[in-house]
Amino acid sequence: MFQRKQSPSSEPFRSAAWLQDQGKAGFIARSHLRALGLPDEVFDGRPVVGIANSFSELNPCNSQLRTLAEHVKRGVIAAGGLPLEFPTISLGEPLMRPTTMLFRNLMAMDVEETLRANPVDAVVLLGGCDKTIPAQLMGAASVDLPTLVVPAGPMMSSSYRGEPIGSGTDIWRFTEEFRVGRMTGGQLAEVEGCMSRSAGTCMTMGTASTMACAAEALGLALPGTAAIGAMDARRQVAAERSGRRVVELAREGLTMSRIVTRDSFENAVRVNAAIGGSTNFVLHLLAIAGRSGVELSLDDIDAWGSDVPLLVDLKPSGRFLMDDFAAAGGLPVVMREILPVLRADALTVTGHTVAENVAAVESFGHPAVRTIDDPVQAAGNATAVLRGNLAPDGAVIKVSAATPALLRHRGPALVFDSLEQYHVAAADPELEVGADTVLILRQAGPRGYPGMPEVGNLPIPVRLLEQGVTDMVRITDARMSGTAYGTIVLHVAPESAVGGPLAFVRDGDLVELDVVNRKLHLVVDDAEFDRRRQEQPVPRTATERGWVGLYRNHVLQADEGVDLDFLRGGSGHAVPAVPF
Ligand code: FES
Ligand code: MG
Repeated sequence: MFQRKQSPSSEPFRSAAWLQDQGKAGFIARSHLRALGLPDEVFDGRPVVGIANSFSELNPCNSQLRTLAEHVKRGVIAAGGLPLEFPTISLGEPLMRPTTMLFRNLMAMDVEETLRANPVDAVVLLGGCDKTIPAQLMGAASVDLPTLVVPAGPMMSSSYRGEPIGSGTDIWRFTEEFRVGRMTGGQLAEVEGCMSRSAGTCMTMGTASTMACAAEALGLALPGTAAIGAMDARRQVAAERSGRRVVELAREGLTMSRIVTRDSFENAVRVNAAIGGSTNFVLHLLAIAGRSGVELSLDDIDAWGSDVPLLVDLKPSGRFLMDDFAAAGGLPVVMREILPVLRADALTVTGHTVAENVAAVESFGHPAVRTIDDPVQAAGNATAVLRGNLAPDGAVIKVSAATPALLRHRGPALVFDSLEQYHVAAADPELEVGADTVLILRQAGPRGYPGMPEVGNLPIPVRLLEQGVTDMVRITDARMSGTAYGTIVLHVAPESAVGGPLAFVRDGDLVELDVVNRKLHLVVDDAEFDRRRQEQPVPRTATERGWVGLYRNHVLQADEGVDLDFLRGGSGHAVPAVPF
């Protein structure tokens, strides 16, 4: 038909299969893209950068991504690439029910299939609210293009009556105070009006901040981008720089699998210990590793995190907010401080190693980021993995968020099969419960609920709250919010709904928790367990239609990251067949 200018590089980009095609398929692709107002000369073989945008008004945390994408585009264009932005589904924690976790894998499928099916040579992932960055990384890993993350960034800091308040974290506190009459409805409404002051993710070290830091620690985001505020002009600059850099990544052929290795996962785990990151990190990291074909187990996570002290003093465990973290220099300062225990040679999207990235970083002693010699908490306070007859495949506890005196505990179980049942009981001033009681919430795991909601931080029963009890041991197959705190054993695997031992605990059974020795034990012998198992067969989950049916039939347990069994691994980015 007609001759087009060829790609300047010897290896044509993947998009050339669409845009350089000399037949009908090329005509159709170019002709329709020109409807965007693109001039003919952009079809000269330059790399096409997909911008996967999880902007949504149903997800206020990501709502500024609508405009942040424009800054990525500036960078892509300046570096000689062609940016094409596309929407994906978005998962907003505050609104989605029953839980965003039910849909993380669906979003990952959306990202994966959109990338593979289209003329995309490299991708910038715009995500933020808890599950969005994990879902994007899972999908992108299964395609394995050059990949760069630009996090949404934390929302503006907030204060109530002069005291800084943190997203999530202080909601748990204030709603408890309201429940026992220490706060009025009017005061609570006042807090509601001032807590979320702008677009952006929760400004505590909750799951969103944790996963932005994880992306940076894995080497998939430009250094420093995790901490910069959503409303800060420097985020726009970072977005533009990311746009420039991703074009180079495409030219260098630096695909995600060259960045995301066992070494980079080790770095992410150690960094997570240093920042006091969310327990949800564990599930998401296992899932991303599963997509990347990298061997990673719960035991690796425990071992790698256990010798790293907590350096970052942020809520929920500490005092400060993400703005302070940014002011302290953000993640590069932390990575510089723990460099001796990091895989310093791990390659990152800058094209440089971790060691090279942080070589010139200075710490200026801001109290939000402490030093190895003067940590917030000593090593051994990261997320620990527990095992025992109650969790044969593991369970996790965030030690830094727990009460030290409860880390070794023996007490009678009080079991609940639903959150609703618990709420009724917890409000009863006559409830038979003591400070040593171990609250158990089951049927809240990946398949049982379904979707493994963040309900593990059960509020303290009113009766105990009135006695001044502020923490007690809680055990569940659910998750908890990254902004929550307490002595809470989460992600028990296998979950009760698939016949895990949690299903057979009865009120009054003695539970032994021993975090130092990584033990979670029910003082019930094997014969008794077997007897209960016979008596109480696991009900089969009713078949459901649609996504929930697919999810329930294929979801993996917590120790494997709660991905769907058929989504592990990847299918690469080979160009699919032409339909014309
Ligand atoms: Fe979206 Fe916290 S609710 S980041
Ligand atoms: Mg959260």
